[in-house]
Amino acid sequence: MAPPSKPIVLHIGDPIEFNHDLYRELESRFTVIRPSVEDRQRPAFLQALRERKWGDFSAVLRPFWNSGGEMGRWDSELIPLLPPSLKVYASAGAGYDWADVDIMAKRGILYCNGASASSEAVADMAIYHIISVFRNLQWSNMAARTLDTERFLDAHRNQPVGAHNPAGHVLGVIGLGNIGYKIATKAYRAFGMKIIYNDLFPKTAEQEAALGGARRIENLDELLGEADCVVVATPGTEGKALLDADKISKMKKGSRLVNIARGTLIDENALADALESGHVYAVGLDVHQNEPHVNPRLARNRNATLTCHNAGGAFETTSGFEALAMKNVMAVLSGEQPLTPVNKHLIV
Ligand SMILES: NC(=O)c1ccc[n+]([C@@H]2O[C@H](COP(=O)([O-])OP(=O)(O)OC[C@H]3O[C@@H](n4cnc5c(N)ncnc54)[C@H](O)[C@@H]3O)[C@@H](O)[C@H]2O)c1
Repeated sequence: MAPPSKPIVLHIGDPIEFNHDLYRELESRFTVIRPSVEDRQRPAFLQALRERKWGDFSAVLRPFWNSGGEMGRWDSELIPLLPPSLKVYASAGAGYDWADVDIMAKRGILYCNGASASSEAVADMAIYHIISVFRNLQWSNMAARTLDTERFLDAHRNQPVGAHNPAGHVLGVIGLGNIGYKIATKAYRAFGMKIIYNDLFPKTAEQEAALGGARRIENLDELLGEADCVVVATPGTEGKALLDADKISKMKKGSRLVNIARGTLIDENALADALESGHVYAVGLDVHQNEPHVNPRLARNRNATLTCHNAGGAFETTSGFEALAMKNVMAVLSGEQPLTPVNKHLIV
């Protein structure tokens, strides 16, 4: 192909849906190429990269997390095939399980995610789960759907036993980052919950004061022993779960647990044991250890509120992901700082 006069942006995935003015600006400043679905399948995609089918592109734009991932993981097989001209991969999605961002950094490629666009929705979902686990709402919900009058009356009479208002209880947030801080803010402002947190880094005194005097607890076991409800909001880990059987045993007896981060952070069988024994009173999980499979023991348990990894699923998130991905591309290709880099600190 003839060398284009403008830098090339490889747009992988579906066409833009929401931010058309921004896309027009992108197209006016760059040559935008959008490979077909067939070309995005892994063998075809790798071959196209080897053949430089799309030239020396400077940016990859993936505006949606549910399309544009057809080629699979951007890993040690794919990344070496990328042109040296590539500066930035800007994607929808807060997580980036599909990209080895450390290998990209070694090649000098910035990876930018869409985290800030989803924080509000994810925090709202955490609040939904917090209310549900305090008030036994899943029991009520499951009973109503049976259309069985006995089950209805049973839930009506007995669900309030053990139900509590979140107000005044201790919320222990593991990972007080973008989302964790928003959850804590909402829980403090809406319910007056007392906030404790465990994070690799402390928040400033002002940030802690804004949460009614949030207290950082460096020892995770101590936080687990003190919280009436634990919320997991750290990045996912590979290998050993953050909350395994030993850690779950350290949780305060009869406390609650909510996970909106990543399913692999919790050993679900150990959690089901703790739920069945009553050591943990109720759980709220948006994310699951082996998605799209849900742990059958948890699925059957009326004290488990389960959603299908929908925490970020709101219009504002999708539209925001799209806009942020384009803004990151435009910033980096204009020589400005990226808005939401993930691996910048790894680039030397
Ligand atoms: N369920 C969903 O749909 C959904 C949507 C968006 C994000 N998420 C997940 O939410 C999580 C948090 O996202 P974020 O945007 O707040 O990230 P973030 O990077 O802003 O915050 C993560 C926080 O966790 C802390 N942390 C990291 N490792 C830790 C550890 N071992 N122990 C204690 N603290 C630790 C970090 O210091 C940071 O403050 C991520 O796992 C992300 O994938 C889920």
